[in-house]
Amino acid sequence: MSYIHLMRIRIFFLRPKEMLPIVDKLTIQFIVEEAKAAGIEDILIVTGKNKRAIENHFDSNPELEQDLEATSKTQLLKLTQDITNLGINLYYTRQPHPAGLGDAIYRARSFVGEEPFVVMLGDDLMKDKVTLTKQLIDEYDKTHASTIAVMKVPHEEVSKYGVIDPGDMLHKDLYNVKKFVEKPAVDKAPSDFAIIGRYLLTPEIFDILEKQKPGRGGEIQLTDAIDTLNQTQRVFAHVYKGQRFDVGNKEGYLETSIQYGLRHPETHDALRKYIIELAHELEKK
Ligand code: G1P
Repeated sequence: MSYIHLMRIRIFFLRPKEMLPIVDKLTIQFIVEEAKAAGIEDILIVTGKNKRAIENHFDSNPELEQDLEATSKTQLLKLTQDITNLGINLYYTRQPHPAGLGDAIYRARSFVGEEPFVVMLGDDLMKDKVTLTKQLIDEYDKTHASTIAVMKVPHEEVSKYGVIDPGDMLHKDLYNVKKFVEKPAVDKAPSDFAIIGRYLLTPEIFDILEKQKPGRGGEIQLTDAIDTLNQTQRVFAHVYKGQRFDVGNKEGYLETSIQYGLRHPETHDALRKYIIELAHELEKK
């Protein structure tokens, strides 16, 4: 079976946030590499504006490669080559109006056809020994059911997410979900398990999305469609235990850059020293 993955791209500041660099790599590159590590071969990128910048990023750049080779900048050369030597097929489609995540995913219907597929949101970076996308595919191989990644978040933050009402635990880290609710009020949330940016869905979701009425914020919500799907076939929630970085807001973007900078061999030492010195200085104030 071949897996297909899509992602929704929106605008962050003046440029798509997927084009924001984390140390020396663009956010979209991390996402595409996660897909590749999970064995995905065909990727459809659903974009809004600024599609060209993303397409250009994955194009080869022979002049730059020659320059880097001539000046022995091997590290940079490798980074540049990694972008184009992905060995996967990239396709693009456009969401003309920002009508919601459900609407963005519906645009992939003919691309996906009758196969299960993975959705990866472009503003969530995940870090774990086995990638989260692979974890979802492994669950699917056992259950053949749609599986949504969730994570426990602080209770006061639940209204920023889709939230599940977990039913029985099927086995470790897998729940048979009772209900999916998009951005509930904090006092109405059925749990602290938030939907994070990775979904494995069966193609029946498209019949539901076709008729889906606007929900929260007047947008076509994927969470609402998943809740309907859950009434006709099993939908599971897989609890993710790795790290998640939300690049989609200013604070999250800064934290992500610091965390990745601390792990990067070229920036680790200097950044660590700087943070320690800065912390001492800030403590004095
Ligand atoms: C979207 C989904 C939401 C999910 C979140 C994860 O919300 O609608 O269910 O919890 O992504 O990042 P958005 O970030 O578009 O507000």
